[in-house]
Amino acid sequence: MPTPLVDIRHDLHQHPELGYEEHRTSEVVQRELAEAGVAFKSGLAGGTGVLAHVPGGDAPPLALRADMDALPIQEQTGLPYASATEGRMHACGHDGHTTILIGVARELAERSKTGSLPGDVTLIFQPAEEGGAGGKRMVEEGCLDGSVLGPPVTRIFGLHGWPSLPLGTLASRPGPILACADGFEARITGKGGHAAMPHLCVDPVAAAAAVIQSAQHVVSRGVDPVQGGVLSITRIEGGTTHNIIPNSVFLQGTTRFLEEEAGVVLHERFDRVLHEVAAAHGCEASIDWKDGYPVTRNDADAFREWDDAVSARFGRESVQTMAPVMGGEDFSYYGQAIPACFFTIGLLPEGQDFMPSLHHPNFDFNDDAISVGINAFLAVAAP
Ligand code: NI
Repeated sequence: MPTPLVDIRHDLHQHPELGYEEHRTSEVVQRELAEAGVAFKSGLAGGTGVLAHVPGGDAPPLALRADMDALPIQEQTGLPYASATEGRMHACGHDGHTTILIGVARELAERSKTGSLPGDVTLIFQPAEEGGAGGKRMVEEGCLDGSVLGPPVTRIFGLHGWPSLPLGTLASRPGPILACADGFEARITGKGGHAAMPHLCVDPVAAAAAVIQSAQHVVSRGVDPVQGGVLSITRIEGGTTHNIIPNSVFLQGTTRFLEEEAGVVLHERFDRVLHEVAAAHGCEASIDWKDGYPVTRNDADAFREWDDAVSARFGRESVQTMAPVMGGEDFSYYGQAIPACFFTIGLLPEGQDFMPSLHHPNFDFNDDAISVGINAFLAVAAP
């Protein structure tokens, strides 16, 4: 008898591993694939990535993807299967995603044996979605182009559990669905000295305040309101005590956008505000941009295929159009390589109007959503 999927999910939840450290998780995936009789290649993307292949008929081959990594959070759920590792937690539900794709592998293997699987299916178990760009490495190592295992795939589908969406409901949209999330670190440098003699100093604290104030106009006056965007300064550090004007002030923040055009405006305008407002106050500024994941963009045809397939399986009333979200996803790298569709599945239990959000220490994936995820993937891969 195969291990019940709920037990696999709880086991993964109890043993969370950070990006590129998913060795135990990867072993569970490989054990389950072997047991289901599914061919796979392990050791990808730094060691923990797994690519599986299920042979089917003549229909164009497609890929399905799950992420396996956890987060550096101390779990507070008090669940019997809560994290057994200090400071590590499956707070984004990737334990659920991995379990869902294991369940899909079992079903597809059965369909393959009976000759009723329409086309080849590639299953991607990737490491390091949370900031490590494991998806990018899986693409670069040839997981989509047939050089690792199975044929080249023509399109890819991925999912994420969604705490604000009712259980049994699915949601997605064509076009941009998740944002590009860049970060920056900046420094404004003046000339420190005695706080009683500001005229002999160049005060970087006053300059930083002016920069932060002016930065509020970058989105509201610079970005097409229909495209939208976010510029948040989230950290400011400078000075040591009450009677010293410091030499410099450190700023950190993030920009988020759904259209590359808005991203260009955000970067250019903030660069200018930083340098020129600082200069107006006699200071110098420097900035270091850290590129985040690209915009996750759903291909129109892949979205329509998903929308038709899940509507047929779950009923039209269970499928919603969602607004774009300003979070980021490394599923975007697959979408840059081939047509892709990313969607969300509801986790909110019936009768509840709230559950802890993703990345919260009280979050837990809803076990009842495992079958929803499996059926959503099967709707496109094995209708
Ligand atoms: Ni996630």
